[in-house]
Amino acid sequence: MPQQVKAVIARAKGAPVEVTTIVVPDPGPGEAVVRIQACGVCHTDLHYREGGINDEFPFLLGHEAAGIVESVGEGVTEVEPGDFVVLNWRAVCGQCRACKRGRPQYCFATHNAKQKMTLLDGTELSPALGIGAFAEKTLVAAGQCTKVDPAAEPAVAGLLGCGVMAGLGAAINTGNVGRGDSVAVIGCGGVGGAAVMGSRLAGASKVIAVDIDDRKLETARKLGATHTVNSRTTDAVEAIRELTGGNGADVVVEAVGRPETYKQAFYARDLAGTVVLVGVPTPEMTLELPLLDVFGRGGALKSSWYGDCLPSRDFPMLIDLYRQGRLDLGAFVTETIELDQVEQAFERMHHGDVLRSVVVL
Ligand SMILES: NC(=O)c1ccc[n+]([C@@H]2O[C@H](COP(=O)([O-])OP(=O)(O)OC[C@H]3O[C@@H](n4cnc5c(N)ncnc54)[C@H](O)[C@@H]3O)[C@@H](O)[C@H]2O)c1
Ligand SMILES: [Zn+2]
Ligand SMILES: [Zn+2]
Repeated sequence: MPQQVKAVIARAKGAPVEVTTIVVPDPGPGEAVVRIQACGVCHTDLHYREGGINDEFPFLLGHEAAGIVESVGEGVTEVEPGDFVVLNWRAVCGQCRACKRGRPQYCFATHNAKQKMTLLDGTELSPALGIGAFAEKTLVAAGQCTKVDPAAEPAVAGLLGCGVMAGLGAAINTGNVGRGDSVAVIGCGGVGGAAVMGSRLAGASKVIAVDIDDRKLETARKLGATHTVNSRTTDAVEAIRELTGGNGADVVVEAVGRPETYKQAFYARDLAGTVVLVGVPTPEMTLELPLLDVFGRGGALKSSWYGDCLPSRDFPMLIDLYRQGRLDLGAFVTETIELDQVEQAFERMHHGDVLRSVVVL
């Protein structure tokens, strides 16, 4: 029987989100229904609400979630009812050209549920990143459920489902930060903060946090930054160069998603250094750089989708490090909120008051 549950949707561009009743079908072949226990509020949810991702309203928002598998459809072997899972938006297909070449982190045909969740009048919903977890229950492809140690707190575990994984992975996987590297992270919200933490975990000897908000810089210190730069009052490129013997950092992670911060990242790295763009730009943004500088400065300009993670490899490992006290994932949970407080959480995110607000159900 299809179920009716409460959920947060964005009905139209820029309009405040609303709590409404949605219909969740029974899982079909390869699908699972998950009872959501916690779901973090990510900047990408706000991008969706503002029409910055696409126009496929209404959106069922929320995509950084953990919960319990309630039921599974035919042929599902990965998970079973009762499993504690973190939801992911990279259920790799194993068949596409990226998967076949042994680079599943670039999978071009990731799995989502085939059936649609709807409003009561039958209007089909577009779930954010194929998840849609500001909801009591959601329908996903079974491969989107990654089993992790059930002793982990849902509010913490769920964060691996997007922003924290994106940030950790931007440093560790995409940037390939290693022992003794110098790293700068521009923009220290949930994603950038996780890049700071990931850089420390990977053995970076210098981690420079850059933000325009002193509160974020203070938190970045707690997450492992060795130096902080307020780029509202100080030239970020100059400061990063000064802190790295005049050379620039080996790896610079851009976690804002704006042309001006990308340019800072581009010029703040050492010759042959790496820029990692993990911040998500909006469609109207463009970038202009002297081509000679692109050539002359060498190195790598990379984008990081979801921290180049492989959920089945990375989520259980990171939860284990967290459980051992080696990775303070709990530091990202600034507050826990109810389902009807997502709009206020967007406001607080906009004002820079939080790393993560997490809806707990
Ligand atoms: N690539 C991915 O897979 C992925 C995944 C999740 C989120 N994201 C994106 O990462 C970005 C950050 O997400 P978040 O959830 O951490 O957002 P957030 O709002 O929590 O953090 C953004 C941070 O950037 C800072 N900032 C804003 N303008 C700045 C500037 N000009 N210079 C320096 N710092 C500045 C803010 O003060 C804030 O601390 C967003 O664009 C989001 O969509 C990407
Ligand atoms: Zn694939
Ligand atoms: Zn996200």
